[in-house]
Amino acid sequence: MTVLLVPGGRPLRGTVSVPGDKSISHRALLLAAVAEGTSVVEGLSDGDDVRRTAAAVTALGATIDGPRISGGVGRVHAPSGPLDLGNSGTTMRLLAGLVAGFEMTVVMGGDASLSVRPMDRVAVPLRLMGADVTGTGARVLPPLTVHGGALHGIDYTPPMASAQVKSCVLLAGLHAEGETVVREPVLTRRHTEEMLALCGADVTEEDDDGTHVVRLRRRALAPFRIDVPADPSQAAFWVVAGCIVPDSDVTVENVYVGAGRRGFLDVLVRMGADIDESSRRGPADLAATAGIRARFGPLEATTVEADEITGLDEVPVLAVAAACAQGTTVFSGVGELRVKESDRLQAVIRLLGAFGATAEARGDDLVVHGSPSLSPATFDAGGDHRMAMAAAVAAARAEGTGPSEISGFDSVATSYPRFAEHLAHLARAEQVRSDGGGRS
Ligand code: S3P
Repeated sequence: MTVLLVPGGRPLRGTVSVPGDKSISHRALLLAAVAEGTSVVEGLSDGDDVRRTAAAVTALGATIDGPRISGGVGRVHAPSGPLDLGNSGTTMRLLAGLVAGFEMTVVMGGDASLSVRPMDRVAVPLRLMGADVTGTGARVLPPLTVHGGALHGIDYTPPMASAQVKSCVLLAGLHAEGETVVREPVLTRRHTEEMLALCGADVTEEDDDGTHVVRLRRRALAPFRIDVPADPSQAAFWVVAGCIVPDSDVTVENVYVGAGRRGFLDVLVRMGADIDESSRRGPADLAATAGIRARFGPLEATTVEADEITGLDEVPVLAVAAACAQGTTVFSGVGELRVKESDRLQAVIRLLGAFGATAEARGDDLVVHGSPSLSPATFDAGGDHRMAMAAAVAAARAEGTGPSEISGFDSVATSYPRFAEHLAHLARAEQVRSDGGGRS
């Protein structure tokens, strides 16, 4: 198991480019697989999750040649065996929707973490549409078997705020009879809607008294071209690091800042962070990018509502920021953290405790008490990439004797394989990585 050694108290200075957005990358591959012709996708994430989606669409009949992805409904066929989706819950939930539209059986499994993630949230609507979806137990745990074909549209309100569930239903709706409608009382990221429109799908969005309503009807998709912007959820690690490590000045380039993904920036600004967005481009959400510069300064506690941070991916690193702020920060209604790649509610409490801060769960709220200082720690990321990177940010801020040790750091390959290299670049540290060496 890889251990990352992070010396604390060194300012982080300079510019980094983070991987292409993971959510957009998954969707680009899935839509290109059924669009009639060759799509061109530049800047895909190089993380393992997106590689799993690429391998899956290839197994289903698409061909990938550099940025060129050739697909079409006529090419889709059953894979020759079960698909191994690694750690990627997004792949499993979105792919389940896509393959449900075809008369074939697809079996999808993954690693230990993915094997305990609930798939009932996608099995329920797909069954309503006419697919046969099975897994283990009431929560329909993977391996997940989908036997699809002959779907009909449904009018569905997911019981939880989830872009994955919305996207699963819409992707199934691409090959369903009649209209498919998804209603979201709490808006989640809109990449699927935007990218369906980019492919010429018959899709509309409307606001019905505060509920976001998406309507889709079957129509062949056209190939498309997209430059995937940098992933804001990865940029968040450097932005928070820039804010909390004394004397830091960090810029992340070309970050997607469209609606639904920029909440962490708004929260940090509310906490008093010194953040500039420059060279903002593009009126459309799909193209809204900015360079983000974050400089060290004092932070104040705030209250964060779950719907400000759609998907909650930035909560672990925002909790590290909260631990460095004056006062007590409450992340309200964040119970969905329990069913991410690990139980992130408990993992955040464990992480902050290790570094000498305190946090607690009160029902579905996460309460973080600001601490005058963080000290170097030993932390096991538990196979969760975002916990590993959040711990590295806390470690960069920690002051005391010796480096922090983060074990299980290889998990960052899921979304950000070059994270340790970029940390070393920003810290101008000579050596921040060691490979195992008997540690576990
Ligand atoms: C994602 C949606 C979010 C997020 C995940 C990616 C997506 O999950 O946590 O990392 O690409 O649709 P939920 O939809 O379950 O909130």
